[in-house]
Amino acid sequence: MKLKLIYTLFAFSALALLFLNNSSGPAEVQGQDRTGSPLSIAPCQACHSSGAFSPTPQLQILDDTTAVTTYEPGKLYKVRVTVNASGDPAGYGFQAVALSGTGNVQAGDFMNPGADVQITPLNGREYPEHNKRSSTNTFEVDWEAPATGTGEVRFYAAVVAANGMSGSGGDGSAFLNSPVTLTEVVSSTAEANELFEAFTIYPNPVGNELNFRIQSPGQSEYQLRLLDLQGRTSLSRRIALSAGEQVQSLDVSQLPAGVYTIQITDGKRVSSRKVVKR
Ligand code: HEC
Repeated sequence: MKLKLIYTLFAFSALALLFLNNSSGPAEVQGQDRTGSPLSIAPCQACHSSGAFSPTPQLQILDDTTAVTTYEPGKLYKVRVTVNASGDPAGYGFQAVALSGTGNVQAGDFMNPGADVQITPLNGREYPEHNKRSSTNTFEVDWEAPATGTGEVRFYAAVVAANGMSGSGGDGSAFLNSPVTLTEVVSSTAEANELFEAFTIYPNPVGNELNFRIQSPGQSEYQLRLLDLQGRTSLSRRIALSAGEQVQSLDVSQLPAGVYTIQITDGKRVSSRKVVKR
């Protein structure tokens, strides 16, 4: 009976050691998010809790060498996690994740891990993390920004500054107080060149009077044109718009029947719609 107990204890401690062997990243060894994200049951502090070295994590998303706060969908960036610590730690570790949406889904793709970094898949997400105690305090990995429409991306990260004693004792740990967020930029030239967010015309087909409803960003003058199918200007006039939504009308009774394009421009950008004259 006593022997059995000892065996059981031994088996348990062996299991615990196996489970806690964390010189490699916690996603790989423990199957856990330790970044301090909403998916994190407990960050690195749960074990590395002595508070030594007072580390502070820094996470930057770099476009070439410039840190950015926005991303262009599909573009490649570099994510750099730096562990700033006092004293003289023997080594460093980290874990990071990029999440989007209310479901905290994987945002974009991590690739090309730098020195001492691995990318561990876990629950459909990717976790860049250390693959051994690293002697440098900087970790780098490439990140391909997600597709158009993903919206805000949140980066979470936690770090450890370790004393090199092959255990979690005597180490310091911290995670980002709040995630580093990137907002999506709309890079489509078609959308960037659109003058008005909202621009509708009615009736269509039109008889004598064409109405157009516009959401104008400010008070300004614009050039209005009606072009025929050959691109010739059939009608042209300057219009003044005030800020906000408004409706204007245009007398088109003199126009020959056919298909036209109505175009409003400020000289740089343009909004246009097709209209049929009866
Ligand atoms: C469940 C407990 C636990 C958690 C949580 C944990 N670790 Fe560890 N960690 C350990 C143990 C135990 C060791 C020692 C085992 C070994 O060296 O193989 C260790 C070792 C390390 C080492 C090497 C330390 C040294 O002095 O050699 C680093 C670096 C490290 N962990 C980083 C992290 C980071 C970064 C996190 C959070 C993202 C983390 N750990 C979360 C238990 C944990």
